Amino acid sequence: MSKYEKEGHIIYHGDACEVMKIEIPDESIDLVFVDPPYNIGKKFADFHDRWPSDAEYAKWAYQWIDECIRILKPTGTMYLMTSTQAMPYFDLYVRDKLSVLSRIVWSYDSSGVQAKKYYGSMYEPILHCVKNRKAYCFNADDILIEAKTGAKRQLIDYRGDTPKPYNTEKVPGNVWKFTRVRYRMDEYENHPSQKPEALLERIIKASSNAGDTVFDPFSGTFTTATVAKSLGRNSISIESQGLYLKIGLRRVLCMNENNGEKLEAVKKNTKIRNGRSIKYEEQSGYLFNADS
Ligand SMILES: C[S@@+](CC[C@H](N)C(=O)[O-])C[C@H]1O[C@@H](n2cnc3c(N)ncnc32)[C@H](O)[C@@H]1O
Repeated sequence: MSKYEKEGHIIYHGDACEVMKIEIPDESIDLVFVDPPYNIGKKFADFHDRWPSDAEYAKWAYQWIDECIRILKPTGTMYLMTSTQAMPYFDLYVRDKLSVLSRIVWSYDSSGVQAKKYYGSMYEPILHCVKNRKAYCFNADDILIEAKTGAKRQLIDYRGDTPKPYNTEKVPGNVWKFTRVRYRMDEYENHPSQKPEALLERIIKASSNAGDTVFDPFSGTFTTATVAKSLGRNSISIESQGLYLKIGLRRVLCMNENNGEKLEAVKKNTKIRNGRSIKYEEQSGYLFNADS
């Protein structure tokens, strides 16, 4: 295990469960965001995300889930992701130990070929859990979104004693639409399962305050710590793969080199397709031709 630290941000290179057991004290973390391997056969550098059975995957996961609960403050919040097929294992296990406040669906646009003989996967589930449902952080005002119905059509709400216009903003519901991270987005890193900054921004703004500690045991491209830092939170991250550790050292600790190796962002090929320039349309995440 190795540890890197700078200005309230700590990165561990090692196994999530081991590091937590040795390094992270009881009830010391305000917000845990967990996006583990999903047991769907992805390759994460030298790590192959495949367990012999669902039951063995769940057994592995329950160890670090218990550790996450141990290190969470009594007022703390945990967001937990996994594949749609593994989520029932997590949900049944966690609901005995924490209060599950929301079952969130991160719904995204699709690119490339979709399933032809069944309904293709277009979402990932996220559990939103707290230790104490009477005392937890939820900064509703910091995550308001436009309330499309009513306000947009300038309707009047006649249900109360005094008619009034509908609210123009609301707290998001539990279906979240964020585009997946695409090659041409500025935040793109070379990793098979990078989560969008916008997703983490909502989670961190809602469930922590400036100066709080945000923890991510499976950091990948270090989206959580990057966003935590930009929002004035402290962070602790763990990642087992050296290839991705380098992303964290660069993205979070702003290191230019490590052990004599230069830490550089992905060099992207943004040039030419069919002899014509290509521009990136950030909102939809789709490529379109600048000439069209
Ligand atoms: C789903 S990805 C996380 C992606 C991340 N949320 C992001 O936005 O980039 C899971 C990560 O866990 C790492 N990992 C796998 N096993 C691990 C372990 N035992 N301890 C720590 N990290 C591990 C993988 O290398 C991979 O980068």
